[in-house]
Amino acid sequence: MKANVTVFDHPLITHKISIMRDVNTPSKQFRELVEEVAMLMTYEVFRDFPTKEVDIQTPLALAKCKVLAEDVAVVPILRAGLGLVEGVLNLFPTAKVGHIGLCRNEETLEPMEYYCKLPTDIADRRVVLVDPMLATGGSAIDAVKMLKKRNCKNISFMCMIAAPEGIKAFTEAYPDVPVYCGALDEKLNDKGYIVPGLGDAGDRIFGTK
Ligand code: PRP
Ligand code: URA
Repeated sequence: MKANVTVFDHPLITHKISIMRDVNTPSKQFRELVEEVAMLMTYEVFRDFPTKEVDIQTPLALAKCKVLAEDVAVVPILRAGLGLVEGVLNLFPTAKVGHIGLCRNEETLEPMEYYCKLPTDIADRRVVLVDPMLATGGSAIDAVKMLKKRNCKNISFMCMIAAPEGIKAFTEAYPDVPVYCGALDEKLNDKGYIVPGLGDAGDRIFGTK
């Protein structure tokens, strides 16, 4: 595996993703699982998060303690990325949330931008870009381009399932952006869907099909 790509092998993550894959898993449970997996992944994504030392008065004495040293923004790629936001916020309640709206053209598979609203101080924050699926990589690559245009320097990309094609395209475009995924699948089919995958993540989260 490439140096900047982490595929999680934690049993809780793989177990929950396996249930998400099941065609019989209903939307309510699917949504809950997306949020839970996002939370478990966040725990690992921030393993190297910088801390700073502060003095904290306990009931007994002054203690030298460590607290998180940087601010965070979580940025979902709409719409399926919305499903991961609460999972990140459960662990980082002070994170700000930006939104990038991209939708794949079903014929060309090219992403089309339809929305972008980011925190004004996004360039000063660690950005966690989230989307359940990395298929051709087009959407994630465009989203990072939009973030870099706004001077974001510290970006990580977190997804549930990736295809080898998406990993290749993304890491070639942005070798500096670490990718974290819950599973690396076999391939894309001729419609750009990840196989075996879990189907259309947005439709499964929001029950639109
Ligand atoms: C899905 C998914 C990603 C994108 C991945 O979104 O959530 O954003 O496709 O494909 P790519 O790597 O080939 O770009 P979709 O465009 O279906 O929009 P939706 O979230 O609104 O359902
Ligand atoms: N988008 C999805 O939601 N699923 C895929 O398999 C590929 C792109």
